[in-house]
Amino acid sequence: MFNYETLKPWLFKLQPENAHALGALVLRSANYCPPLFNPMIGKYFISHPSLTQELFGRTFLNPVGMAAGFDKNGTMIEGTLAMGFGFTEIGTLTPKPQEGNPRPRLWRHIEEESIQNAMGFNNDGLFRISHRLKNIYPFSTPIGVNIGKNKTTSEENALKDYTTLIKALHPYADYMVINISSPNTPGLRDLQNETFISQLFAEAKALTDKPVFLKIAPDMSEDQAVALCVHAVASGADGIIATNTTVDYSLVSEPEEIGGLSGEVLRERSFYIFDAIARALYGKTTLISVGGISTPEEAYRRIRAGASLVQLYTSLIFKGPEVVEEINNGLIDLLSRDGYTSITEAIGADRV
Ligand SMILES: Cc1cc2nc3c(=O)[nH]c(=O)nc-3n(C[C@H](O)[C@H](O)[C@H](O)COP(=O)(O)O)c2cc1C
Repeated sequence: MFNYETLKPWLFKLQPENAHALGALVLRSANYCPPLFNPMIGKYFISHPSLTQELFGRTFLNPVGMAAGFDKNGTMIEGTLAMGFGFTEIGTLTPKPQEGNPRPRLWRHIEEESIQNAMGFNNDGLFRISHRLKNIYPFSTPIGVNIGKNKTTSEENALKDYTTLIKALHPYADYMVINISSPNTPGLRDLQNETFISQLFAEAKALTDKPVFLKIAPDMSEDQAVALCVHAVASGADGIIATNTTVDYSLVSEPEEIGGLSGEVLRERSFYIFDAIARALYGKTTLISVGGISTPEEAYRRIRAGASLVQLYTSLIFKGPEVVEEINNGLIDLLSRDGYTSITEAIGADRV
């Protein structure tokens, strides 16, 4: 049976992006031969009555999702289920295909169990990805679709990129995510302003009944982040995903000077911003927490702070799909320890 600890030393000998490509190749084979992956689903996919919840008309069998950026093109949706994730967020995808930034653009900080990436929205573009989604949707686990603007699209035309993507993709998504928080598209984070957000959500709400989330960066002051999210929800956002990667390079000993950091070094910053947002918005909208989650205790902390769902990416690289299994099994124990029969009773428990 597949064991990540045995595989990891070999994978870590490869350039990070080549290791990702190899993993992607294996996971894509799940599309062609699903029975091969049944043992993996049996081992890693944890479902339990206490972990199950209904959100926006879909059943989430467990609350641990694959964060955006792992499956930018929607080619590994079956494989993500096999790794145990209760839902997956594909993208970020853009209207036109784009190559992303020149390589190298992905680095490991092994001692710090962190990753630095400057990918720059490399993706196959709307046309190809929408065909893929059309063939697979609705899927057994919920699918989020994370969207962004093309690098060559000016700030003035950015709104059009987002509305084009929402219009074309909302039939094949359980929820959509507006990404204006990646550090790797020049000027993108400048769209994290109230004027743009008002226009965007006004148009988004006219285009779709599906939930539309805003994903935010961790590199704002607490006040700015809260004000922006409160404004987004008042403008029609159905939820907030906090956070994307950080550009605080002082967090690692040997940083590159581009890209964003994720993993262990992001954990406390991500929690701090999430917690501030939850203080203002818990009970008023749906919150998803992401950033440095690698243990059941950390996932539970986010849930008790107000997260209905959590996501991870970097801990999958360092610990393999065992991390998803470990978090879900750990959550079952933590919920039971605290006398909860359902995760819904624990969501926001620390807010009251
Ligand atoms: C290699 C890589 C690529 C990413 N690409 C995207 C992306 O395209 N869109 C996005 O919203 N977030 C992207 N992210 C950010 C993750 O979705 C997540 O917000 C962040 O990594 C923090 O979670 P983690 O510490 O569990 O990795 C990327 C992260 C990594 C490591």
